[in-house]
Amino acid sequence: MKLTMTKALAALCLTVGMMSSAQAAVEGYKLYQDTCAKCHGESGHADNFRGYLYFARNFNSKEWQQKMSDADILQRINQGPRIMPSYEKSLSDDQKSALIRVIREFGRN
Ligand code: HEC
Repeated sequence: MKLTMTKALAALCLTVGMMSSAQAAVEGYKLYQDTCAKCHGESGHADNFRGYLYFARNFNSKEWQQKMSDADILQRINQGPRIMPSYEKSLSDDQKSALIRVIREFGRN
């Protein structure tokens, strides 16, 4: 019985592992919408109530995109500047890289 459980668990981990790479882009976008959009706006413009209220940055700005390295963005996600919560512990490294890719996509519009 114990062995079957272990096997089942291993199979589950494998499936989840494969899914996560294939769906990373989609997941990242959903994660952004669920976690970040309330302040940074659905398309990163910070053009919503909280965005104005908290003076959140416009991620679509070319200057902003050029100024910030991926490491800078990661550092902000971990730190949580000003009113922004820190996501250092609550998000995995994979989730953080997915979010950085989403933020970079905003710069291409
Ligand atoms: C409670 C509102 C709020 C939430 C939720 C939030 N942020 Fe922020 N964020 C801010 C504020 C305010 C700042 C500081 C002003 C600024 O630089 O935009 C900021 C700054 C940033 C910066 C740095 C901008 C810069 O130029 O230094 C990044 C990158 C960022 N947020 C990404 C995210 C990501 C990714 C998420 C979701 C995991 C998130 N934020 C969730 C409010 C929020």
